[in-house]
Amino acid sequence: MSFSVIVLAAGQGTRMSSSTPKALQTLAGKPMLSHILSQTEKIKPDQIIVVHSPPDVGLIKKAATNFNSATLVAQEQPLGTGDAVKAALPTLNKNNHVLVLLGDVPLIKAQTLTGLTEGIKEADVLVLTTKVDNPFGYGRIKRDQQNQVMAIIEEAECNKEEKEINEVNSGIIAFSGKHVEELLSSLDAGNKKGEYYLTDTIEAAHNDGLKVGAVVVDSKEVFGVNSKKDLAEAERLKRAELTDALMEQGVTICDPTRIDIRGTLNCGKDVYIDANTVFEGDVELSDGVSVGPFVLIANSSIGKDTQVLSHCVIDNTTIGANCSIGPYSRLRPGTELDKESKIGNFVEIKKSKVGKGSKVSHLSYIGGTSIGIDTNIGAGTITCNYDGVNKHKTTIGDNVFVGSGVELVAPVLIEDGATIGAGSTISKPAPKGKLTLERAKQKTIDGWQRPDKTKDK
Ligand code: UD1
Ligand code: CA
Repeated sequence: MSFSVIVLAAGQGTRMSSSTPKALQTLAGKPMLSHILSQTEKIKPDQIIVVHSPPDVGLIKKAATNFNSATLVAQEQPLGTGDAVKAALPTLNKNNHVLVLLGDVPLIKAQTLTGLTEGIKEADVLVLTTKVDNPFGYGRIKRDQQNQVMAIIEEAECNKEEKEINEVNSGIIAFSGKHVEELLSSLDAGNKKGEYYLTDTIEAAHNDGLKVGAVVVDSKEVFGVNSKKDLAEAERLKRAELTDALMEQGVTICDPTRIDIRGTLNCGKDVYIDANTVFEGDVELSDGVSVGPFVLIANSSIGKDTQVLSHCVIDNTTIGANCSIGPYSRLRPGTELDKESKIGNFVEIKKSKVGKGSKVSHLSYIGGTSIGIDTNIGAGTITCNYDGVNKHKTTIGDNVFVGSGVELVAPVLIEDGATIGAGSTISKPAPKGKLTLERAKQKTIDGWQRPDKTKDK
């Protein structure tokens, strides 16, 4: 029998104190809901339904856009997790088994979900539970003398004894398609919170003589996020998961607690990553790449054996092999550096190509520029590519030498082998193989005196 997944993402998430719905809070660079949906898609359900609050429809839709298969269903009032599942019933493909996930349990893995979709074939209800040192806030798993799950008691309803139980409900529950509707119809809101608790279906199932099973997982995988403090804890757990996988694969991470991976970081062999580094979106580091401390790299790929020194910001950039970047370089979107190039300190590059072996070593702005191979750009050189309305292109050939402190007023062409004298403002083509410079004649004024601060006026 096929199965449907229902992800509960409605309600106010009051404890988050945020105007962003709880399931859309960011974890490792993506909304929690995206993490859940990508694991869910892996197990190929027949149907995915996301239950949300009516005002959140736009935001939820946006977060779910990459997951074409998800159907959104509004829960008019946040009357509890049981009511949220009820809201999904009219959309549910009849007779499918049902797997309920929570939008605030974001670290769940496809493998565990598969365990449940397989397990439900042999049971009527299957609860995913875990054991924790501090069960506060979670529903407690009550077992009978035969160790069968007989009920889940919510925190607010627990007596003193029940509070001591340290096996808790992950919130993830699978239901056999045959029983889900009848179990939901048994719910009432006669409890401390006045909510329809999905967890009350367990006692109902037990009392009806249905087979209630449990699968126990590691607590890290089902950590529930209710507050900003929990969100930071989930980020820590996710970080450890990502860095463990990278280290296992041979990446040297100087300190796994001082790296942030907000997206997908793919690394080759013998990659070294120093402390306080942040990776956003899709980042690719080839074999032998070394990333220095305090570096931010977003949506970029870095070629073999390239060194990124400290304090660089690299965004939407492609870097070839054997380059040297930084310290303190800023590479902005649309930068392409060919192999063996060198970008030094306080250099900003945007929408430009730098050819093989070329160098921009100090204090420059290069924008909308194409630089050929083996060219040297002197310290303090600026491409003046914006006239206040439009942006223009600068083209610099191969084997060019641009002296220090040059302004290249675009559109402008510097031909192969040209040399530009230091301090020039170049606005016309500089011909091949020649020295071009533009400078006022130097003069010395005789008899000029520097004002003397110590003299009376
Ligand atoms: C819930 C479980 C608890 C479990 C814990 C695990 C219930 C009654 N309690 O408690 O047993 O140990 O999760 O983390 O199920 N939601 C809706 N509509 C609503 C209410 C909630 O869609 O009307 C969604 C929320 O967006 C959230 C999830 O359901 O993603 C869980 O709701 P929450 O209020 O956080 O439940 P907990 O008190 O954590
Ligand atoms: Ca919760």
